[in-house]
Amino acid sequence: MAKPSFQAPPGTRDLLPPDTDRMRQLVTIFASEAASAGFGQVIPPMFEDIGVFTRLGEASDVVSKELYDFEDKGGRRIALRPEQTASVCRMYAEQRPLTPWKAWYAGPNFRYDKPQKGRYRQFDQVGAEVIGSNDPDVDIELIALAARFFDRIGLQRVTLLLNSLGDKSDRPRYLDALRAHFEADLDALSEQSRATLQVNPLRVLDSKRPPDAELIASAPVIVDYLSDDAAAAFGRVQAGLDALGVAYQLAPRLVRGLDYYTRTTFEFAADGLDAAQNAVGGGGRYDGLIADLGGPEDPGVGFALGVDRTLLACDADDLFDAPDTSPEVWVVSTTDGFEALEVSAELRAAGVRTDRSFDGRSMKAQMKGANRSGAAVAVIIGADEAAAGMVSLRPLRTDDEQALVQRTELVAKVKEMLQS
Ligand code: HAM
Repeated sequence: MAKPSFQAPPGTRDLLPPDTDRMRQLVTIFASEAASAGFGQVIPPMFEDIGVFTRLGEASDVVSKELYDFEDKGGRRIALRPEQTASVCRMYAEQRPLTPWKAWYAGPNFRYDKPQKGRYRQFDQVGAEVIGSNDPDVDIELIALAARFFDRIGLQRVTLLLNSLGDKSDRPRYLDALRAHFEADLDALSEQSRATLQVNPLRVLDSKRPPDAELIASAPVIVDYLSDDAAAAFGRVQAGLDALGVAYQLAPRLVRGLDYYTRTTFEFAADGLDAAQNAVGGGGRYDGLIADLGGPEDPGVGFALGVDRTLLACDADDLFDAPDTSPEVWVVSTTDGFEALEVSAELRAAGVRTDRSFDGRSMKAQMKGANRSGAAVAVIIGADEAAAGMVSLRPLRTDDEQALVQRTELVAKVKEMLQS
C-alpha cells in the first residue's frame, strides 16, 4: 500500500474500536462514581487566554516548555489547555457557583512533550475538583473517589503515594534547607538539576536522573517543616484514609509537575508500568490558585487521572476488556425492496445491535459478512419470505435449525434466540 500523504502528528494517535469503546466505558464508570459522590460535570473550553495557564507557575515544564500557544485572528494570546484545573478555577471565578463546588470533567489536554509510550501530546484525563472548602475530609473523599474508580475498573496494582507540601508560609524555610542540602554537594548533581536548583529547589526532588538519586534520598523532607495547622490537616487525611481502608504510602519527597500545590499532594503509580511513565493520576490542594487567577481567596483540591495511561496499566495486567459492541443480528436480504432497511430499523428500535451488508451482494457474500461480524443470528429475507410476510432466522453460533417466523413475531423471536 502506498504511504498516505499525511499521518497523525507526532504524539497524537488515531483511536478506533476497541480502544474507543474502552475509553468511553472508562469515562462512563468515572462519571457514575463522581455523580454518586455529589459531583456535577463541567466542560471547560479546550483553549483559554494564555494567562490562565502561565499563572500555574513558570517553573514547571508544562508552562515554560510545553504549552501549545498561538495568536488567534483577533490578536489574542491563546493556549490549548495542558490540564483542566486552571480552567475549572477560571470558570469558578467567573461563574461563582455555590460552594463547596464539586465538579468533574473528562477530555483531551495538550502538552508539547517528548512523545513516547504513555506520554502523548494529546492525552485524555478524567478529573474532579472541589472548590471552597478547607476541610481535609474533602481531600479524603476525593482520594477515596479515585481509589474507588480504580477498584471498579479492576486495577488493583496501583500504589497511592501521599505527601503534604504545607502552606505557602511553610515553604521558604524548607526551600532554604533544601537549597543548602544540594549546594553542599553541588558537583554530585546532574547539570540539569543544578539549573533547576536556581529556579525551584523543590523540582530537583522530581529528577529521575541516576546521578541525583543519592542526594535526593538524603534531602530534608517537608513534613518536618509543616505549620501546626498543615500538620494537623495532614494527620486527619491519613487517619481518614485509614478509616476508609484506602491504602497509601507516605512519600515525603513527592513533588508534582505543576507548581500550584499546597498541603495534601498525591499520585497514583501503576505497578505494571515502567517507572518513567507509571503515574496514572495525581492531584492535591491548590489553595491560592483561584486568587492568582483574579478570583476570591477560596481554597481548592482535586485530581486528574490519565485515561490513556490507565488503559496501558490495564493492558499490562490483562484486564478491562472492551465492552462487546459487535452486532447481535445480521440482516441478509436478496430482494430489491426495503425489507433490509425496515427489519434493521425495527430491531435497532427494539435495542438489538443490528447490521447488514450493502451494495446488492449475493446471498453467499452476505452470509460471509454475517459470519465474520460475530452476530449470533442472521435474519434472512428472500423473495419467497418477503412475499409471504415471513423471515428466516438462522443461528450462527449453534447447530440449531433455521426457523421460519412471521414478520410480526420477528423482534420477540430474535430476543428469545439471543437469550438462549
Ligand atoms: P498531572 O500530574 O500533570 O496533573 O496529570 C495527571 C495525569 O495525567 C498524570 O498522572 C498522567 O496519568 C496523565 N498525563 C499527564 N501528562 C500526560 C501525557 N503527556 N501523556 C499521557 N498522559 C499524561 C494534572 O494535570 C493536574 N491538573 C491534576 C490536578 C487536578 N491537581 C489538582 N486537581
